[in-house]
Amino acid sequence: MMARDTDPAVDYARRHLRVGWWSLVGFLILGFVLEVLHGFKIGLYLDVSNETRRLMWTLAHAHGALLGLVHVLYALCLRLFPGVAAGSQKPVSSSLIGASVLLPGGFFLGGVGFYAGDPGLGILAAPVGATLLIIAVFLIARATASPDSRQEQPEGHGGSGRRR
Ligand code: HEM
Repeated sequence: MMARDTDPAVDYARRHLRVGWWSLVGFLILGFVLEVLHGFKIGLYLDVSNETRRLMWTLAHAHGALLGLVHVLYALCLRLFPGVAAGSQKPVSSSLIGASVLLPGGFFLGGVGFYAGDPGLGILAAPVGATLLIIAVFLIARATASPDSRQEQPEGHGGSGRRR
């Protein structure tokens, strides 16, 4: 039986809707900043000797934005699928939020200071964030197997034509 580790006082769907849209705001602004760095041909970003920084900051932007969408998707699933909502929301929620901080944050810090092609020490946060993300996604995937996640079937044997 699946543990239901969910705090009834917390509206997890609302929390992830907010975290998701606000992280999209933040990481799309980062994308805009990267575009400005291109537009003005800024050496600290574009020089070949700084290609590690460019890769790290591009990865921070891309992962942060995509994770924002994952938060919004999770919020929608909580509202739309009772089976997903019946799963353990607390560990999923903390892991997803941790991943959104550590994965893009680690990439970003890894590009602030770097050493001869190797990212800075901040990059160590990225694999921790990746692990949290995999845990969260595994828990969500497992919750989708719950029968509660299907639409209620109409009662009776009247041949409603909705058999699958
Ligand atoms: C949900 C929305 C977005 C997602 C998922 C996303 C994702 C990505 C990904 C995966 C890359 C890497 C592409 C590659 O290197 O092959 C990238 C690069 C980039 N994105 Fe976005 N992006 C989004 C929105 C934006 C917006 C709104 C802007 C600007 C206003 C932007 C600006 C950039 C720039 C400038 C690069 C290139 C960075 C470089 O190579 O120096 N992105 N994005």
